[in-house]
Amino acid sequence: MEEARLQSIPLFAALSKKQRRAVAKQADEVDIEVGRHLVREGEFAYEFFAIEQGTAEVRRGEQYLAELGPGEFFGEMGLVGDVPRSASVIARSPMTVIVMTGSAFRQVDRELPEVGTQIRKTIEERCRQLEPVT
Ligand code: CMP
Repeated sequence: MEEARLQSIPLFAALSKKQRRAVAKQADEVDIEVGRHLVREGEFAYEFFAIEQGTAEVRRGEQYLAELGPGEFFGEMGLVGDVPRSASVIARSPMTVIVMTGSAFRQVDRELPEVGTQIRKTIEERCRQLEPVT
């Protein structure tokens, strides 16, 4: 995909053009119809997603967790932790998403510390929301 399109994703915005070009080489843009499950809770994690357009809902069992929109990302928890998907993510409008395979994502995570740090910060925040309230 085109490097310039990655500028709309804050996770990649602070990278140099050269770094973004390297990420873009590993990423694809995909159009998604409304209602599609992009990630299913409990399944094995194969891909990472960032949202270019549209919105998606994050649900865990019967519980609504969050709505994610343009510039946000999901699917990082299963890949980083090598654990089953923590929640389902469902398209609530037509969407355009940026998709990376698990191995491409892990390479970016390893080689670009700015990205890795932001991903871990986001995981921490999201994990806090997943913990059962006692
Ligand atoms: P993963 O566990 O791979 O698959 C489900 C995704 O939903 C998860 O990664 C996160 O990207 C996302 N997610 C989980 N919990 C939250 C939350 N509380 N807020 C926003 N997104 C979340």
